[in-house]
Amino acid sequence: MNLILLGPPGAGKGTQASLLVARLAIPHISTGEILREAGRRGTQLGLLAKPLIEAGHLVPDEVAIRVMSERLLGQDVKSGFILDGFPRTVGQAEALEPLLREAGLAAIGRVFFLDVSDEKIAARVSGRRSCPRDGQVFHVTANPPRVEGRCDQCGGALETREDDEPEMVLERMKLYRRSTEPLIAYYKERGLLVSLDAMAPAEEVHAEIVAALPFPRSREEAARECEPGI
Ligand code: AP5
Repeated sequence: MNLILLGPPGAGKGTQASLLVARLAIPHISTGEILREAGRRGTQLGLLAKPLIEAGHLVPDEVAIRVMSERLLGQDVKSGFILDGFPRTVGQAEALEPLLREAGLAAIGRVFFLDVSDEKIAARVSGRRSCPRDGQVFHVTANPPRVEGRCDQCGGALETREDDEPEMVLERMKLYRRSTEPLIAYYKERGLLVSLDAMAPAEEVHAEIVAALPFPRSREEAARECEPGI
């Protein structure tokens, strides 16, 4: 089952992807996280992406598409994946279809649009704390870590993302409206879009997503499908 999570900055795409990974046992592919990790490692991709991300800009389509085409060659995507942050432009969406065909992967089955007000976005982004080591995401009030300022998983120090500064968030919102919002109509026309009110607590939004999955299945069911002879 190949899924896309679509929505503005801070809508909860990463949060919903983590909940879906726990349920479906398929990988979460976040282009934002791939680019940030490349930045931390100082690779050529990272050197290109870091200043663009910090300025609230998008990386060029050809770069994002190359990142995705390499990621889709991984063995772990064969039984499904969750895309978070890709596609982000109509050009990327048009490129995705042939990429999937060339990689021998199924077409996208559902696109979940997480609809959130601007006020909620500001509150979510300003309270977000992220772990630079393993990508875990917390919120100071809605999803606080067990120990203040420390990642529950690795114990590392949590950080505020540089692109979460209020003026950068405004920049990212403008870009979202111009470049990414047209994807709502793009996927609606293709009969793939499921619009969700994503203002509710994360578990409630998750339950709505699960109810709209084409073939809801648990982690155990997914594991059984991978057993030899089944
Ligand atoms: P990316 O990391 O994808 O940023 P984004 O799309 O702006 O999304 P965010 O990560 O900000 O938010 P989210 O929706 O995942 O929310 P989260 O779950 O964290 O990309 C970063 C940058 O990389 C881009 O700006 C661009 O420069 C570049 N890039 C990436 N992909 C690209 C592409 N394809 N093409 C070109 N450039 C690309 O939640 C936010 C907070 O809210 C958290 O604290 C969370 O705990 C909390 N929260 C979540 N859900 C709820 C809830 N239901 N109730 C209460 N709190 C909640």
